[in-house]
Amino acid sequence: MSKTTVDLKEAFAGESQAGRKYTAFAKKAEEEGYPQIAKLFRAAAMAESIHAINHLKALGGVGTTMENLKTAIAGENYEVTTMYPGMIADSEAEGEKKANTSFKWAFEVEKVHEALYRYALEHMDPNAPAVEYYVCPICGYTHAGKFEGKCPVCNTPGEKFLKVE
Ligand SMILES: [Fe+2]
Ligand SMILES: [Fe+2]
Repeated sequence: MSKTTVDLKEAFAGESQAGRKYTAFAKKAEEEGYPQIAKLFRAAAMAESIHAINHLKALGGVGTTMENLKTAIAGENYEVTTMYPGMIADSEAEGEKKANTSFKWAFEVEKVHEALYRYALEHMDPNAPAVEYYVCPICGYTHAGKFEGKCPVCNTPGEKFLKVE
């Protein structure tokens, strides 16, 4: 692997994290009553996401949609079979409750993502019928089609779910 490839991977990871971090910071600034600082964090988050995507493209990390679905399935599958089970066990052993809940929520939702991606890969059709997706704002549970009732992962009421545009 060339030094540039190593650099691109490091920069992609760093910019991706900065984008998420600034999004969380923006929400906090809103809560603390600093709307202008919140906006600055959102602006920087948007820019970091652009940097991350540029780095990923330079890495050759964006393929055709069929390739991307396969990449996404592999990533979700790794999280569900290897990454999160280990992390759930570690955080349980160390009594880290917040981390344990965060890992468990993600573990449950990644299973859904893998299934949704597999379905999409098996039913690739530019004229596929319209489908709505809803996401739980607390745990990220992702649902295809109108959602009613409570989140099966974290119990949040369905009315609070975010509709994906
Ligand atoms: Fe996922
Ligand atoms: Fe949830």
